[in-house]
Parts: sequence; structure tokens; C-alpha cells
Amino acid sequence: MRKLNNLLLKVRNLKCFEKPEQGFEGIKLINLIIGRNNSGKSTLLDLIENVIKGEMDVPQSFWHAGQVPEIIAELPLSEEELMAVFPEGTSGGEIRYPYSNHWQFGKKLIGAKFRWRLERTQNRFISIGDCLDGSRPIDEIQNISRYMENLANRLGNPFSGKVFRRIFAERNIEPEPDNNNLGVTGDGRGVSNLIQNFLTKARLPSHLVEVTLLNELNAVFKTDARFTSILCQHLDNNTWEIYLEEEHKGRIPLSQSGSGLKTIILILVYIHLVPIIEKKALSNFVFGFEELENNLHPALLRRLLSYIYQQAKTQGCIFFLTTHSNVEIDLFSKCEDAQIIHVKHDKQRAYCRTVKTYIENRGILDDLDVRASDLLQSNCLIWVEGPSDRIYLNRWIELWSDGKLSEGNHYQCVFYGGRLLSHLSSEEPGLVHDAVAILNVNKNFAILIDSDKHNKAIPLNATKKRIINEVESNGGFVWVTKGKEIENYISAGAISNWLNEQGFAEVGQYENFFDYLDNIRAGEGQRYSSRKPLLAELLVPNMTSENIAGVLDLTDKLEGLCNAIKKWNSL
Ligand SMILES: Nc1ncnc2c1ncn2[C@@H]1O[C@H](COP(=O)(O)OP(=O)(O)OP(=O)(O)O)[C@@H](O)[C@H]1O
Ligand SMILES: [Mg+2]
Repeated sequence: MRKLNNLLLKVRNLKCFEKPEQGFEGIKLINLIIGRNNSGKSTLLDLIENVIKGEMDVPQSFWHAGQVPEIIAELPLSEEELMAVFPEGTSGGEIRYPYSNHWQFGKKLIGAKFRWRLERTQNRFISIGDCLDGSRPIDEIQNISRYMENLANRLGNPFSGKVFRRIFAERNIEPEPDNNNLGVTGDGRGVSNLIQNFLTKARLPSHLVEVTLLNELNAVFKTDARFTSILCQHLDNNTWEIYLEEEHKGRIPLSQSGSGLKTIILILVYIHLVPIIEKKALSNFVFGFEELENNLHPALLRRLLSYIYQQAKTQGCIFFLTTHSNVEIDLFSKCEDAQIIHVKHDKQRAYCRTVKTYIENRGILDDLDVRASDLLQSNCLIWVEGPSDRIYLNRWIELWSDGKLSEGNHYQCVFYGGRLLSHLSSEEPGLVHDAVAILNVNKNFAILIDSDKHNKAIPLNATKKRIINEVESNGGFVWVTKGKEIENYISAGAISNWLNEQGFAEVGQYENFFDYLDNIRAGEGQRYSSRKPLLAELLVPNMTSENIAGVLDLTDKLEGLCNAIKKWNSL
């Protein structure tokens, strides 16, 4: 695992992936692959499967634009590999003065990043990075390629010895005739036969099904169901059916059970039975599971994922999980042994990005209560200070777009809390030191900021100026309130409708809205100044397209914001 942690594995010209290589910057115990339909998630699993199985001759129909796929690996060189290629007992040849023997030279390369191709048997070496001290002794030696080829061959397939097992998004478990071939395929075929063989054949340990599998099944299901036994029976059509007994239901055939149960059985079979058949420890297994969330209730899914993580942590097996599930993203977004790879397709080619920001800044994001799934899965985000801003904004967008744009469908509001604004940044993570580059996690974003100006002469503070510059240069939409804060956009018309009384003046641009409200009705401002969301809920039904028009720059800003939302939604 130490090695795979540092392994870069990428591919060129495979299906949707084009020339700039795409894939994994490293391999963790849990590797979550997210992205829209058809973006290339399953193709990344194909890559892992092909590499582990050593099937790197990809059929031509999977080539991108007629180009032969290339599979690229990169690892920091270790002492062991270098010693084998540059032995201490050898001297001379291409490696001469000042090196008294080859190891004198070779040891300088420890830790240098070495890149090689996996799909070839010759010309495998691609490049070598700088030594850890920044030097490049390699450049001083002529005809070094022979040694580099030797290193590439020695490094070989970084997954050698591993076994791959997959579960497809579509899967089922059905009765099956007895078969000596105990293989299980990713769609669930072979599961009934394998369980039946464990239960009925003396050479296989039946307790693994009767006890282990059953206990683990109950551990995952917990309160959702309690299974008392697992058994098999021979049917008239010469097939074997697996049955589960439940306390209050009796004996239920697995083929007639829910698909969530089948998915969990399939995973337990992979974890507990297949390693016995393969005669390999679970630590050698790499699993590629697709869309486990299909047909699973979120609570059960959470328990299943925690179980999977526990297996990875205690046994050392590795999981690649493709998913559309916010439960899965949110569960693993804070886990140090997990990484999220976001695949995006721009209609011509697909790109992979390892989502680092969320993990690195989980402390601040926990404070903000921002969920990784909102950041990563929404078409666009609107960052607002708090709940009352969201209520007003949603109503204004509804009015301005004639109900065509709505939160949840076209955008998602996330709270940054005014105090925390100074931590945010839209710059790339590498450029930012003290601020969190979180705004850029989803590049389609707008941010609404109160100017907090008491009068025209007061300048915006430095944080706000920085955010405005950064957001605009990163293609985001910034809205700084023209008045003091969002409440200064509340029109007298809306207040008239709410209080059912006419003749109010508009609130002043820099006036404190709650003082203004107190002046209209004594005590009302004070009452709502600490209950802003409640006031917002009361006011928004009283807002109309007519009475929001013409208040400060509200309509200009709404037009800009709605156009941006439409663009980000391809509307
Ligand atoms: N030979 C090829 N050349 C270019 N693109 C290809 C080729 N073969 C397949 N593709 C594209 O590669 C992508 C493969 O998508 P993949 O099945 O990996 O998506 P996915 O993210 O798993 O989707 P889903 O969530 O629906 O399962 C698709 O966009 C498909 O059109
Ligand atoms: Mg897929």
C-alpha cells in the first residue's frame, strides 16, 4: 500500500480520455469517482481493471480518435530498485568519474519521480524528475537509456500480484445449476452457485456462509432486518436457490428479495468467499464497485460504506467506487484514507481532477456546514452570508425568471457566514496561503456580499475588494449590495403589502433597515433584528415583480445573476 499511495496512474487515448493524460494522482484505500452520466467514471474503472489483469492491449473500438492508448505510471524510485540497477560492485561503462562505482551514482536518484509506460514491453521509460536535492546527475551521463529501461522493467506493473473484482451498476442474483467453475461476474452471475458450493461441498468451509456471511449481513442491516439463517435448496428445474430466513417472515428466496439485499450479499461474497477460492488474502484485492447506492436506502448505504471502509482499513484491500450519491460523497469527503476524483466531459474529451480542497480545508468547511456534495454536484453555487439572504434571493430569482429558475434545480445556495469571508478565496489552491480556495471547487459560482457601508464615503474593506477581484478574474459573478446590506433592497411596496398599510417611504440606501422598521412601527425593528430569517419568510410572499423593480440596483443585479445561472445550466 505504501507504494500505491504514491503511484500516479494515468491513461491517454482511452475512450473519452484524449492526449493530456488523465487518471489518478495517487491511490488510496477508498477512491471515489464522481461526475455526470457518460463523463468517464466507468472508463477509469476499466483502466484499473485492465492494468491489474495485465490486459493492456485495448481493443481498437476503445481507442480515442484512432490513437493507441498509453498507460502511464509514476513512482518515486526506491533504494531497492536502484540498487538492483546500479550495484555497488559495478564500476565503469557509462557511469565513470566522479563515481567510483554505479551505486555512488544510483543512490542520488532515491526519491526521484520515475515515469514509465505499462502497455509496452520495450521503450517503456518516459522521464525522470529531479533528485530530492534538486540536481539532475542523469543529464550528465550519455547513453543512460539502457539503465532507465532496466528500471522501467524492474518496476513493471505496480499492481502485480493484485486481484481485481468488479460490481456493475446493473446486477442480480438468480438460481443457478451446480457448476464446478466457481467464478462470480460483476453482474452477480455465479453468486448462487458459489454460496451453494460453500454450503454443500465438504471441501469448502460452510461456516463462512452459515456464520461469517450471516453475521456480517446482520451487522450491515442492523435494525433494518434480522436474518436467522442462510441456506440453499435444489429446485425442480435443476437449479439451486439461496434462501434467507427472517424472524417474522420465514424463508425467503434470495432471487425474490430486494435488490439492496442482493448488492450487499454480492459484496460480502467478494470479501469473504472469493479470496478463499482465489487462495489469496483479502489484502491483495482491488475492488471496483459501481453505483452501490442503486436501490439502497441512505441509512443502509452509510452502514455498507462504513463496513467497506473498515475492511479496507483492517485488511488493506482497495476500493474504487463510482457514485452519484451525495451520501457517499459526504461520508468520504472528510476521510483521510479516501480521495475524490471528479470526472468532467466537455463534449469532446474527459478530464479528471482530484478534489483536494475539501479534504484539506475540512475544518473550516465543517464550521460553515458546507457539504462536499453541494459543492461538487450542483450546476452552480450561490454563496450567501446566511439563511435570510437565501430566502430573499430565492424569491427574487423566482420573480425575475418567471419561476423558471429555482434552487435545487438550477443552483444551490451555500452559506459562508460574514465572519468567515476572509478565509475564502477563488484562487487555485497552490496560490493561496491563508485563505481557502473553496470558492473555486465548483467553478460556476456567484457570491453575494453586504457592502456594510454606513455612508457613501466609506470604502469597501480589503477582504471584500480581494474577493471581488479574485472572483471576477475566475469567471464568477460578484454581487456587492449597493446599499448597506440585503435588507436595503426591501421595497416600501413589499412592506405595505405585509403590514397592509400604505404611504411608507423607501428605506435609505445606507440606513439601518431595522431602525427604519422601528420608525414605521415601534418595536418591529427590534423584534426582527435578531430574527432575520423569520422576517424574510414573512416578507417574501408580499414581494411582486412590480414592487421589487427599481429598488437600488436590484433588477440589474438579478438580470446579471439569472443570466449567469442560465449560462451555467446551458439554458
Ligand atoms: N472510442 C471512443 N472514443 C471516444 N469516446 C468514447 C469512445 N468510447 C466511449 N466513449 C465515450 O466515453 C464515455 C464513457 O463513459 P463512461 O461509461 O465511463 O461514463 P460514466 O461516467 O461511467 O457514466 P454513467 O454515470 O452513466 O455510468 C462516454 O462519453 C462515451 O461516449
Ligand atoms: Mg458508469
